[in-house]
Amino acid sequence: MTNLPDDFTILAVETSCDETAAAVVRGGRAVLANVVASQMDMHRRYGGVVPEVASRQHILSLAPVVQEALAALPGGWADVDAIAATHGPGLSGALLTGLNAAKAMAWQRGLPFVGVNHLESHIYASWLEAGDRGQGTGDRGRDSGDPPEFPLIALVVSGGHTLLALLHGHGDYAILGQTRDDAVGEAFDKVARILGLGYPGGPAVQKAAEGAQGAPTLPRAWLRGSYDFSFSGLKTAVLHKVQERQEQNSRLTKPGPKGKGGRLEPQPSALSPQPSLDPHWVAQMAHAFQESVVDVLTAKAADVAREHGATAIILAGGVAANTRLRAELARRADVPVRFPPIALCTDNAAMVAAAAFYRFAAGAQSGWDLDVTPNLKLGAA
Ligand code: KG4
Ligand code: ZN
Repeated sequence: MTNLPDDFTILAVETSCDETAAAVVRGGRAVLANVVASQMDMHRRYGGVVPEVASRQHILSLAPVVQEALAALPGGWADVDAIAATHGPGLSGALLTGLNAAKAMAWQRGLPFVGVNHLESHIYASWLEAGDRGQGTGDRGRDSGDPPEFPLIALVVSGGHTLLALLHGHGDYAILGQTRDDAVGEAFDKVARILGLGYPGGPAVQKAAEGAQGAPTLPRAWLRGSYDFSFSGLKTAVLHKVQERQEQNSRLTKPGPKGKGGRLEPQPSALSPQPSLDPHWVAQMAHAFQESVVDVLTAKAADVAREHGATAIILAGGVAANTRLRAELARRADVPVRFPPIALCTDNAAMVAAAAFYRFAAGAQSGWDLDVTPNLKLGAA
């Protein structure tokens, strides 16, 4: 580990999916600028991210977003010591736009450059200094605000990944469990679609669940004896409930010959919005789904932290914005739970700069030939 100066300043870029982001972070922890141009409105009409649209929009947004981030530095470029960008995992076209822009800036300015793993950067969001740490748990005292200390357990829950990792030091990861099918965020998004709650699904399901009363219980895939997860059965269970409900509703509203328009076969791929469902019932389903997900995630994270003597659990990734998950994990874990403020849970570049700081400190630097790796694994350079 080389000792970087306390004021070592990194400009970072993140374009792995549908947010064009640039940030300036000093000393690996102090966020001087964090600019995110979201493409959510553009993708909403398609019900999900369209890769080509994302790449084109990144190209349009990158220069203004970087300019805005640099404006936080009185000396502008003169105050930047190094550049970082996400090079995987993510959408290849989207990753390419940010990686190439970052490499070009570094080459032009003669600055060191490093590529960062997107999953690692989500974890490093917990190293950033943030005023509202602890928000959402009602238990601020469990997180001192100091940098986390190893060994740590990271629960990474995003749109594309769900995993439990043990960290023994910076960049030293052992994957202890992961999803065998859908990622948690993906399950939230699909269930939101099945329930007609719109896009993006995670926040919509959380909001709907808030008002639920008398919700039923949905199954949990415990996969006993392993720290792996599975969420596709739960998603299908919601789909079956929706189909049963619609069948009941249509029997009530359209009496006809027995068997006509009979029972729908489950079609998980259809995932079409369901406008005919009443909001009270939808809220109950959203609640039941969220409880099932939160129960399994928090039980396994708490167990694995206990087993490995972790000093803390880091909750990372877009689904870490879920207030129910934050509160329940803090309640169940024997050790402090670290989660970034909500704004730093979903994709941003401040977390990329935080991860890059420790890579530079370890002497890492990427060559100009660094390419994107759409399926980059945690722990791989
Ligand atoms: O980390 P992220 O921004 O992008 C990826 O790297 O995938 O995560 C996006 C995912 C989406 O699936 C979104 O629905 C989910 O995070 N998400 C949430 C919440 N906010 C975002 N899921 C549950 N509750 C939330 N409040
Ligand atoms: Zn992400």
